[in-house]
This record gives sequence, structure tokens and C-alpha cells, in this order.
Amino acid sequence: MLKDTYVVNFPQVLHFGCGSRRQAAAAADRLLAGQEVRLFLLASRRALASPAGQELLDGLGARVVGCKCGISSDPPLDEVEECIASLRAASANAVLCLGGGSVLDTGKAAAWLSQGSGSVQEYFAGSIPVPETTLPLLALPTTAGTGAEITPNAVLTDAAGGQKRSIRSGLMVPRVAICDPDFTFSLPRRITADSGLDALTQALESYISLGASEYSRGLAGRAVALLLQWLPLAWEDGANREARTRVAEGSMLGALAFSQSSLGAVHGLAHPLGHILHLAHGYTCAVLLPHILAWNLPACREAVQVLAESMGWSGAEELLQRVQALTQQLQVPGNFRAAGLTPAVFDYVVKNCRSGSMRSNPRPMSDDEVVTLLQKLS
Ligand SMILES: [Fe+2]
Repeated sequence: MLKDTYVVNFPQVLHFGCGSRRQAAAAADRLLAGQEVRLFLLASRRALASPAGQELLDGLGARVVGCKCGISSDPPLDEVEECIASLRAASANAVLCLGGGSVLDTGKAAAWLSQGSGSVQEYFAGSIPVPETTLPLLALPTTAGTGAEITPNAVLTDAAGGQKRSIRSGLMVPRVAICDPDFTFSLPRRITADSGLDALTQALESYISLGASEYSRGLAGRAVALLLQWLPLAWEDGANREARTRVAEGSMLGALAFSQSSLGAVHGLAHPLGHILHLAHGYTCAVLLPHILAWNLPACREAVQVLAESMGWSGAEELLQRVQALTQQLQVPGNFRAAGLTPAVFDYVVKNCRSGSMRSNPRPMSDDEVVTLLQKLS
């Protein structure tokens, strides 16, 4: 059953295509019209050092008043705190992020939480009210997967409290998203696979989510088709311009979809599993995806059938088989045995999986059913 009422909250401006990074300076000028542009740049070292990154930096020129390079994966709260201190010291009036999901999530949280007087730890714990404004943010993704340039949430890790989870606010939707596939050409195969399979998971989970609408489902279905067709080609040949472009486009469309619809049990389980086993998010999703898609099928067969037929396939089972085959081709194992999943961590996963994603899954999954799945994967 699709939702009858919904609200759409997207970036005000979205640039897509190879070379679109060249729009960044003008986009910042328009965003801060009438003010001096004082950007705090948060960037991944690899992306900033690339020819495309250097061209971006040259184009921004004196607009950049402060910079932090390099963010840990699974960004810890104290790195958000450091960014806030740096952007305040630079008197920045906007934030520009260039990087993968960790960089973008850190920048989104810093731009927002810098507008309050509390600590990041206090906001994360929910012990004080969150700020009601944010610094405007421009986001340039350098991987094709997380969709963080579109979404209203940031995944952060409280190292002291042993918790990795998403914080969410409409204020964290970037005002400007610039999706330039040129940044993805030099990605190594493993990152291409992990981020691309994360994008596919997000698109598929959005398509069958209890929060789906006609609006989100149209975007999600197209994203699934683009990613299933082009991700194997981008993985085989990273220099394939059309494959890189279509994968980036599929990732962006999937993000436009799931930012409205929410996700499902793969993402619900991937956060605690990835945290406890120290695995990359996309990789964790990719291991889980075929298992949970098969589990969900009885609750969403009709919708998956329509999607499969739109791609010229025989039905829902063929779509599932193609997803399984793609994860195998991209060298994702079928379980977490080698990653060290044992019954010792089942309790932790069960206790920490009840997020909004889990509640949007089309087939409810009880604690016992989560344990049964984990047994199968260990
Ligand atoms: Fe994801």
C-alpha cells in the first residue's frame, strides 16, 4: 500500500553530470547572495588531491576561509566537534563538503550543530534541544553510493558509548548538491563495489518500504534498473565513462527516493553489525541484501514483480537471482563467517537494530527472527 500523503524535502538546487563541479563557485555565490562568501571546506584527502579536486579548489579561490582534510570512516562525535571549532574560528558562513559518506555526514552535522551552544555528545544523546537553524551546505559526493548529498540524516559513531546510529533533521538536507561522476573514475574496485551495492540496497529498500509513495517508488525503480545494468560494467572497467555516469545517476535517484520513503531491515541490521564487526557499511549491506530480499518477498511480491517485468525479466525470483549474482560477481561473500560473526554479538545486534529503517521493512522481523537470520549468517 503506497502512502497517500507525503512531504518532499530535497536540495534546492541539484547539479548532475561530468564537470558539474565547475558550477560550485557560482552556486555558492547564489546561495549567499548579498553576503561575502566564507566557505569552510571539509574534504577527503584523496578527492581534494585529484585533478578534479584541485580544479574545484582553484575555482573557489578566496571563498574558502578554512579547511579540514581527512575524516575517519564511521565518523566519531569528536571529529564533528573539531569541525565546529574550526569553522567557528574561521567565521565561515557556509560549509562545502567534498568526499564520501563520512565526510558529507560530518559536514552536515557540523553545519547544523554549530548553530547551538551545546556539545555534539549532548545533541547525539538527545539530552538538550537541537538547533533550529543551520549554516547552508553544499555537498559534492566523490563515491556513488551513500546518497548523503540528498538525505536529511548523518550516521555518527559514539565511540565511548559503543553506538553507531543516524541523527536526522530536515535542516541537514544540503541546499546545493553537485553530483560530478568525474570524482568516481579513480575509485578502487572495492569502493566501487561497496558504494554501488549500498546504492542498490537503498533503491531496493526504498522501492518496497512501508514509507514508499508513487513519488519515491518511481525514482527507486529507475535507480534499481540503472544500478543493476551499469554497476557490473563500472566495476569491470572503472574508466567506462557511461557506466560511471549511470551508476552515479542511479545512486542519486535512489537517494532522492529513500530520503522520502525510509529504508528497511538491511539498513536496520547493517548499522549494528557493521559497527560490532568493523565492516564497511556498503559491504555489510551487500552481504545482507540477498537474504533479506528473499525474506521480504512474501510481503512485497507484487511490487517486485512489477519492477522485474519493467526490466524485461520473468518475475520477482529472477530479480532476486540477479541481485544474488551481482553480489557474487562483485566478490561479496554470502555470510559474515570470515568477518567473525558469532552468537556472542547477537544480543548487541538485536538491541541496536530497532531503527526507523527496521520499522519501514515490509515484513516485520521479530527478535527471534533476527537471531535466526544471524545464525544463518554466522
Ligand atoms: Fe546505505
